[in-house]
Amino acid sequence: MLSLSLLALGIGASAASIPRQISPCTFAMTAVGEPNGTIVEDTIGENRIGGVYPQGIYYMDGHTLFDGLHHNCLIWPSTFQFQCTQGAGGSTNFTLADDGNLMHDASEKWFACPSAGPGDDGSYNIFSDALKNTTGCQSVTLRTGGFSCTAMGRPSSSAAPTATASPVLAAQNPAASTTSAALTSSAAHSCPTDISGGVFQFPHLIVPTSPQAPNTSFGNSYKAYVSPTNTTLFNFDLPSAAPYNGTCALLFLFPFGSDLDPSAGKYYFSGIEEELGEKGGLDFALLKSGIESGTTYGNMPPLATDYGKTEILPGNNYTIATFSCGGKQSAFSVSSVGGVELDYFQDSAPSPIGVYVVPCS
Ligand SMILES: *[C@@H]1O[C@H](CO)[C@@H](O)[C@H](O)[C@H]1NC(C)=O
Ligand SMILES: *[C@@H]1O[C@H](CO)[C@@H](O)[C@H](O)[C@H]1NC(C)=O
Ligand SMILES: *[C@@H]1O[C@H](CO)[C@@H](O)[C@H](O)[C@H]1NC(C)=O
Ligand SMILES: *[C@@H]1O[C@H](CO)[C@@H](O)[C@H](O)[C@H]1NC(C)=O
Ligand SMILES: *[C@@H]1O[C@H](CO)[C@@H](O)[C@H](O)[C@H]1NC(C)=O
Ligand SMILES: *[C@@H]1O[C@H](CO)[C@@H](O)[C@H](O)[C@H]1NC(C)=O
Ligand SMILES: *[C@@H]1O[C@H](CO)[C@@H](O)[C@H](O)[C@H]1NC(C)=O
Repeated sequence: MLSLSLLALGIGASAASIPRQISPCTFAMTAVGEPNGTIVEDTIGENRIGGVYPQGIYYMDGHTLFDGLHHNCLIWPSTFQFQCTQGAGGSTNFTLADDGNLMHDASEKWFACPSAGPGDDGSYNIFSDALKNTTGCQSVTLRTGGFSCTAMGRPSSSAAPTATASPVLAAQNPAASTTSAALTSSAAHSCPTDISGGVFQFPHLIVPTSPQAPNTSFGNSYKAYVSPTNTTLFNFDLPSAAPYNGTCALLFLFPFGSDLDPSAGKYYFSGIEEELGEKGGLDFALLKSGIESGTTYGNMPPLATDYGKTEILPGNNYTIATFSCGGKQSAFSVSSVGGVELDYFQDSAPSPIGVYVVPCS
């Protein structure tokens, strides 16, 4: 079984349906608005904003949302409250919007109303926008994030594979193997070289394209395809607030296939020979504007900056470039050089793979 990648977020708000059965990847949620904060779940399955209960962990199967205890989440028909309860009947149609917001019945709008307790912990209960009496309530959106495709039931903190076994050259300074002139500018900033710090952005949209079919839209994908026939575009919605208001780094994380969690599937990599023999690699470029799910090879935005070729070898993390980020969509294209092919499911855990953006200090 292959995993739901972060790209579930790429499912369009308009066409918002997850196209096939997927093995669960868990995620967390935060409320955006006032109040804002982490979504927690209390002992009776009420999802709340803030307060003393532990952070809620969720996953989706089709349009059904479950919590980490596999309890069915729904909007209670009589109260419109958002809860996850064992054996709950009824169903709510949940989808993920382009921007990563959780939608119920095609609406991104929720109400946060002060909870009556227990403990008077300052938390808020969450209701759908069908709530009639909204006295004291505030409108919020629920943003998903922190996707993890670890097999369910395993602690996500399970020992991460270490890089100590890496025999691969360039491990210490992978950036040196690229031709990117932009890299020199990174010296002025201190940028994380991986996502282990936990502050990072993943693409909300991954759109494969093909130079051989320039007018064909292949739509949002769970998977990235880079080969002579496919260039994949990645779209990030970078926040405007700190720490994303300055310089960011574009990273490409490429673990050994054997380090990927089995639930995350395997990547296909054409191999080191194309790279060394054909001087191949992946060409990363920043586009002039963001992309949409319908973007094709023929109508994608022009390149703003071509970062050049990076020779990728399993077991390495690459800092592709630094760029001015924040408050806007940033899209990147990744194309093949020298016949290299890489097809993979973008996956943030437990051994992350793919394209990420991290803020520099
Ligand atoms: C969260 O809410 C607090 C208090 O209302 C506000 O000061 C802060 O700016 C909000 N943060 C974000 C990211 O919206
Ligand atoms: C769920 O909602 C989405 C749009 O938000 C819609 O495309 C889909 O058909 C709905 N599914 C069901 C079973 O109603
Ligand atoms: C609306 O809700 C508030 C807060 O829960 C409550 O004080 C008020 O009486 C309610 N109003 C009506 C008309 O039910
Ligand atoms: C690559 O990054 C991941 C986390 O972001 C980290 O666990 C891994 O050790 C890094 N690999 C190398 C070779 O530095
Ligand atoms: C793509 O569309 C353009 C403009 O409509 C057309 O000129 C071109 O022939 C099309 N290319 C292919 C391969 O269909
Ligand atoms: C890759 O390009 C080929 C040739 O145009 C096309 O048939 C295929 O569907 C593309 N793959 C994806 C995943 O878009
Ligand atoms: C980013 O925002 C923080 C907090 O508001 C501020 O201290 C910092 O100077 C800003 N950085 C840039 C580059 O604007």
